[in-house]
Amino acid sequence: MSDLPDPDILLDVALTIAREAGELLARGREGAVAAETTKSSPTDVVTALDRASEALVARRLGELRPGDGLLGEEGSDSAGSTGVRWIVDPLDGTVNFLYRLPNWAVSIAAEVDGEVVAGVVHAPAMGATYTAVRGGGAFRDGTALTGSTVTTLAGALVATGFGYLESRRAAQAAVLTRVVPRVRDIRRMGAASLDLCAAAGGLVDAYYERGLKPWDHAAGGLVAAEAGLRVGGLHGRPATEDLTVAAPPALFGPLTDLLAEDPPADRD
Ligand code: IPD
Ligand code: CA
Ligand code: CA
Repeated sequence: MSDLPDPDILLDVALTIAREAGELLARGREGAVAAETTKSSPTDVVTALDRASEALVARRLGELRPGDGLLGEEGSDSAGSTGVRWIVDPLDGTVNFLYRLPNWAVSIAAEVDGEVVAGVVHAPAMGATYTAVRGGGAFRDGTALTGSTVTTLAGALVATGFGYLESRRAAQAAVLTRVVPRVRDIRRMGAASLDLCAAAGGLVDAYYERGLKPWDHAAGGLVAAEAGLRVGGLHGRPATEDLTVAAPPALFGPLTDLLAEDPPADRD
């Protein structure tokens, strides 16, 4: 379709709205924040601000990009009519937000005909905004990012995360006991979008997690890929809910081989 928008224009829209939502959240965080309800399990909390942030993003997208589709964690789900669909986590790292830890972000990605072409991960409390456009590189506050070039597991600092379901966490812990002795160390920072951006910036060497939803990895996955990392799943599959891995190309094989051992990281 020739009338599809330029990814740079979509990135500008994403940036504008991510900053507005980030401001709403940062202001809200100055007051009291309580877990309003839970979702998949008692540990899977939602605050009123998760919902307010998604409402703001949905309203602003409706104003700036009428007719586009929207998939948001807090319930937005419309296909749209333009070929553009936005994939939004209005607050990634809710538990960090609740505890006043700084690793939380607004994550907004634009997908055109099913492919993510632009992404923003905006983390006000960290003073960091990560951006990427497909084929255009990855940036933190305008500075180009290149991921780690570590080639060995033994030399790799690996970030990961855990789901909210008890049974899944038990399976993830079993995988972790196999990974920990083989790598430099593990980090669990609490926001998948920012973990992917940390890998993009070489703050960690690699990242893996089972159970991510599209809104967790759409924007950060593009940032990581544009920083030169390989982003995918096991056995040549794409990054999906089964497993998302981001690693330097030479480390991707050894890491996914380790994650494929029994019990495999994509099963629970
Ligand atoms: C969660 C965070 C966490 C990851 C979970 C996600 P939320 O998202 O990204 O780091 O381990 O898998 O669900 O609930 O804070 O938006
Ligand atoms: Ca999330
Ligand atoms: Ca969220």
